[in-house]
Amino acid sequence: MRTIDEQGYHFEEWLTPEQIRADVQQVADRISADYKGKEPLFVVVLNGAFVFAADLIRALKNVRCEITFIRVSSYWGMSSKGQLEFIVPLQQVVDQRDVVIVEDIVDTGLTIHQLKAHFRALGATSTRVASMLFKPNKLEYEDSKPDYVGHEITDEFVIGYGLDFDGFVRNLDAIYKVKE
Ligand code: PRP
Repeated sequence: MRTIDEQGYHFEEWLTPEQIRADVQQVADRISADYKGKEPLFVVVLNGAFVFAADLIRALKNVRCEITFIRVSSYWGMSSKGQLEFIVPLQQVVDQRDVVIVEDIVDTGLTIHQLKAHFRALGATSTRVASMLFKPNKLEYEDSKPDYVGHEITDEFVIGYGLDFDGFVRNLDAIYKVKE
């Protein structure tokens, strides 16, 4: 088993590149079936999701699609919780589009909850979510449960395949779990 030491923490390989490939293909096959004859717009939530998104869209079969990118940050305002700030704003019109939001991980679901509301307000026909990882135990927003999930995970710290540790290690080809 491969291991990584990063910033004083010890990580062990959890999903190998082969397992990730199988997960991605399973998600891609379901999306290919569901979006047959449609022209979805994939909205990739930077930064973490770029690796998964690159593999996912290449694993689709016969889906005519577009891909675009956003970067958001949730912050806590004085009177309202979880305001969404667009660091890289949406560059595409989502009105009357079938939107597939692509994430590396859904945790509390706040980001997805707000993005879905945002895209719906902009006139999206549908808003579904594909996420490489999903933490069901952490979900606080029921409408943020991803429609397509590569792998479920309990509340553990994971890195690699797009997931970072203070900005680093996104380039690892596997997903590693911290070892207590
Ligand atoms: C992560 C992840 C999701 C969000 C999930 O992004 O990529 O966008 O957090 O958390 P939530 O379900 O509780 O909203 P992060 O802010 O770490 O940015 P990054 O993708 O650039 O690493």
